[in-house]
Amino acid sequence: MPDVPGALLGALEHVRCPVCGQPLALEERVLRCPAGHAVDVARQGYAHLAVGGRAHPGDTAAMVAARDAFLGAGHYVPIAQAVADALGEGELPPGPVVDVGGGTGWYLAQVLDRLPPALGVRDGLCLDSSSAALRRAARVHPRVAALGVDVWRGLPLADGCASAVLSVFAPRNPAEVARVLGPAGRWVVVTPRPEHLRELVGPLGMLTVDARKDDRLAADLADFERTASTDLAVTVELDHPALRALVGMGPSAHHVPAAELEARLADLPPTVAVTVAVRVSTYALS
Ligand SMILES: C[S@@+](CC[C@H](N)C(=O)[O-])C[C@H]1O[C@@H](n2cnc3c(N)ncnc32)[C@H](O)[C@@H]1O
Repeated sequence: MPDVPGALLGALEHVRCPVCGQPLALEERVLRCPAGHAVDVARQGYAHLAVGGRAHPGDTAAMVAARDAFLGAGHYVPIAQAVADALGEGELPPGPVVDVGGGTGWYLAQVLDRLPPALGVRDGLCLDSSSAALRRAARVHPRVAALGVDVWRGLPLADGCASAVLSVFAPRNPAEVARVLGPAGRWVVVTPRPEHLRELVGPLGMLTVDARKDDRLAADLADFERTASTDLAVTVELDHPALRALVGMGPSAHHVPAAELEARLADLPPTVAVTVAVRVSTYALS
């Protein structure tokens, strides 16, 4: 039986029992609270804390494999850099960076390696409901711990434990983010802009970005104040494997059958210049 990762052990001071909210301690490969509620540490090194009935399953193994391939090729490095820049501006309170809906943990790993050491942030917690994503997140970086959660059921973390929270193309639960962020903490939210991947909407049937997304975000985050915002726009050259992965990792995967996607890809040149356009917004509790 492999050892429990050091990052998960280190994270335990911030993790709370999903049933009763008490601290958890490790016994063998089980996390147990004083009331006796217990959660296994998976062989792959993560703990799934979404308990009680059917939790949201999150991304499928095929979507996660596609995401891993696409992100691993570095096409979205500018987004990771913009997130690190947003965190690096000014002081942060102590505590880990918590990536909610963090998927494979790729952004968190990139961000931890890019933060200025003077900021004092060392560790990251990658929270997701997808077991396939958590398997990868548990080994993405020596200082990242992977925890299974369903964001709609709350975050099994101590009040005020986080220095910062990330939401990168991920579901948001503002009340829970407010609870786990310290008063001086920061929430960095990445959302697609209407031009995002626009060259692929017609040819590959990618879904369009809802033009009212900004209004929805503002309404969601009414208890927060936006303290900074950067619009990032870059062009990336994507070959067919990258395009296949990009479609496969997102919601468009459910809308375009595999055979149709291959037929559409065959009509495209060997590489396509694609716009990556996102907004990186920073929020503080108001
Ligand atoms: C579009 S992906 C983004 C992943 C990651 N932030 C990235 O950009 O690579 C959305 C992520 O949210 C997760 N997710 C969906 N519903 C969730 C829920 N209710 N609770 C926790 N995670 C959820 C999915 O499993 C998926 O990993």
